[in-house]
Amino acid sequence: MVLRSAFLVLIASALTGCAESRTASTPTSQGPYRAAAAPTNPVKGEPTYRHVVAADHEIASKAGLEMLRKGGNAVDAAVAASFTLSVVRPYSCGIGGGGFMMIHLKRHPKITGLPRTIALDYREVAPSWARADFFETDPKLKDDPAASTNGAHAVAIPGTVAGLLDALEKFGTLSREAVMAPAIRAAEEGFVVDADYMRAVASSNVARGAKEAGSQFAEFRTIYLLNGRVKEGDLLKQPAQARALKLIARDGAKAFYSGEIASAIRSVLGAGGANVTLAELAAYRPRELLPLTTSFQGKKVFAFPPPSSGGIVIVQTLGMIEARREEFDSFDYDSSPQIHFLTEAFKHSFADRSRFLADPAVTDIPVLNLTSQANTRDLASRIDLSRTQPIESYGSNIPRAAAHPPTDSGTSHLSAVDSWGNAVACTETINLQFGSLVVVPGFGFLLNDQMDDFTTRRGTPNAFGLRQDDRNLPAPGKQPLSSMSPTIVLSGETDTSPVELVVGGSGGPWIITGTLQVLLDCVTYGIPASKAVAQPRIHHQWMPNTLRIEPEIADSTEGSGKQTRTVRAGLESRGQELKLGKSECVIQAIRRSPSSPGRFEAGSDPRKGGKPAGE
Ligand code: DON
Repeated sequence: MVLRSAFLVLIASALTGCAESRTASTPTSQGPYRAAAAPTNPVKGEPTYRHVVAADHEIASKAGLEMLRKGGNAVDAAVAASFTLSVVRPYSCGIGGGGFMMIHLKRHPKITGLPRTIALDYREVAPSWARADFFETDPKLKDDPAASTNGAHAVAIPGTVAGLLDALEKFGTLSREAVMAPAIRAAEEGFVVDADYMRAVASSNVARGAKEAGSQFAEFRTIYLLNGRVKEGDLLKQPAQARALKLIARDGAKAFYSGEIASAIRSVLGAGGANVTLAELAAYRPRELLPLTTSFQGKKVFAFPPPSSGGIVIVQTLGMIEARREEFDSFDYDSSPQIHFLTEAFKHSFADRSRFLADPAVTDIPVLNLTSQANTRDLASRIDLSRTQPIESYGSNIPRAAAHPPTDSGTSHLSAVDSWGNAVACTETINLQFGSLVVVPGFGFLLNDQMDDFTTRRGTPNAFGLRQDDRNLPAPGKQPLSSMSPTIVLSGETDTSPVELVVGGSGGPWIITGTLQVLLDCVTYGIPASKAVAQPRIHHQWMPNTLRIEPEIADSTEGSGKQTRTVRAGLESRGQELKLGKSECVIQAIRRSPSSPGRFEAGSDPRKGGKPAGE
């Protein structure tokens, strides 16, 4: 307390006349959550579970729970939920896409060598036709800005089936048939179109497929738009996808990567002018990566390594908070000093994302330098609590290794825990809503448009406004940089510490800032999982230089008496440029209950209408 007051005096004297001197030292009318006073009492009304799955669709959460009831572990549950999402959130993820799965195995009678944490990377890879300058120079596509988001050239080789079945074989306990049964059932019996589905139908990515005459998107329109007649409340069955799922359940990954399904993928892409060989489909393999780790508030954090950019941004941002811990703890929750600090930290780490990150398999990424304590302390020391900086000045002052010579919605996150203490954070995507809009004939599933996550046109931002480096140019077999950030936090520094938080989300670059904020909500501010995922949020990705903020935060007031003002005014006085609007990310989180030993809280973000299932 004495230390904290000393810090406040220090800040106040350094910034005499500035907002911080008032805001940091006076209580505000903000919400009940303060770093300095995180609630330790049981939170009334928050359900807890001994095992639970939080997906962004209740049918998928229930598919996971069905596996836990059968005695399956968190991996079985996650794989069942994921295959089911392919059916019930077909615009977000699916067997035509890819993903990242963070698996923390603590204890299981059938698995040895535990505890262990694995970052399983089953992101798509660029096909053999993908040259670095393809989208800039191909005569047919160079003038078509949608070439990397709609149609055959938007599609990278899918990884989801290989990844899920690899996870199941190595770390799961139930049979393929058992974990795939709920997905096949959902595809055959159908699911009810909800408001979120209709939101996806109305998205800009779909507009072209909905209107364009000809056959390229005809199957998409028939299956997913019911020829323009789809509406909330309709029962949508997917018999063709059920066929694909049944073949996979019977024959495993080879059913997808060779044989009938592979031939159908090759043929539909070939018809669109993108030549993908059967050999490159058959060669797809997931990668087992070492997670990035950091310590935050005495807890071990497992974050996803490149080709995710999310892990590095999260580790850097947490490092910047730790470097200026006492000041950070003095800020009120969602106050202008706290949001200013986070925004400045995001600008530094997103500037690094833009300059340094790409697929580590083909490009040198200075991961250790970027995430070192020395570097995060340096970045933190450059945050001015009273002012923004010139936009070009953000980012790490470390040498940029030479870029490799040229040779870089729809997403869904689910979190699962079982009663042994194992946990899975899994984020999967087909990129934009309904991916490339290309449906695999006879099998009814959508192919991704992950090619747009590469730097397809140098100097031009991608669909998420992200500017990316030449390191992220396409090349055969290369993975595009991703923002997916499945994250697991343990309650102590050692690998044997129980799981504290399983979190991640969807929404392009918003995934990273959303995941980070929910991590802070749960770990630093003690907010229960179901409330944390619903909290209003902010987002900054360095460029465009705009702080996106939900009105609930911007319009709230801080300070007292004559010094009362809105958070918005506090941020603008520091030079932040604000844009008010809804958060574009959707987070699913599971948090260890602080009050019921061995039990977990779970939250599916109300923004997408999901619901956890557990008991
Ligand atoms: O991997 C990525 O970063 C993007 N393909 C994610 C896209 C996404 O989250 C779209 N959203 N809802």
